[in-house]
Amino acid sequence: MKYLIGGVATVVAGGFLAACAPPANESSEPVAQPAPQIQTRIENRLPVSLNDVMVAMVNQAADPIWVAAWREPETDADWRELERRSTQLVLAGTLLTVPGTGPMDDQWANDPAWVALAERLSTVGRDAVTAVRARNLEAISGVGDDIVEICEACHIAFKPDIPTGGQFGELSPTEADFEE
Ligand code: HEC
Repeated sequence: MKYLIGGVATVVAGGFLAACAPPANESSEPVAQPAPQIQTRIENRLPVSLNDVMVAMVNQAADPIWVAAWREPETDADWRELERRSTQLVLAGTLLTVPGTGPMDDQWANDPAWVALAERLSTVGRDAVTAVRARNLEAISGVGDDIVEICEACHIAFKPDIPTGGQFGELSPTEADFEE
């Protein structure tokens, strides 16, 4: 069965690559051959729990975006950092649609309401990237509000009282944490 799934994926991916390849007369490069082993979504499993993804990635990525709304990034490096965090939020939304090692992960990742919220997180992450690239603080603040809404909606619908993997997040920083 595993072989069958892999085989179908290889054929599909092969067709996709062929369709993307430029016409032969525009390039002398050899047409790329599909890699022999192509992983399918079906076989994928994150090596950590979705509880870990929350604590180690989602929370970490969102915090600096909220902070930026009331504490403007100063240097180019600060802005680059913020752009990378925003990109992590885009990625995190996609990771949340793949089950990991947690006891509830399969149930969550297979629930259409969950997947919709995870996809909203990716979408708002892309909005954050756009706002950060434009260095538009008002837009960043608006995106920050959208992010809070999505976190809360999903937590109300799905989050158990005690983390399934025992991982609690740090409290998000507040303005007071940055006062001299
Ligand atoms: C798609 C649903 C979903 C979205 C969106 C989501 N969460 Fe979560 N979050 C959960 C679930 C479910 C848990 C509990 C995981 C577990 O216990 O295995 C959790 C747990 C957490 C935890 C760790 C547990 C704790 O109580 O400290 C933190 C921190 C966290 N989320 C932060 C966030 C932040 C910040 C956002 C928004 C940027 C967010 N989450 C968006 C579903 C979501």
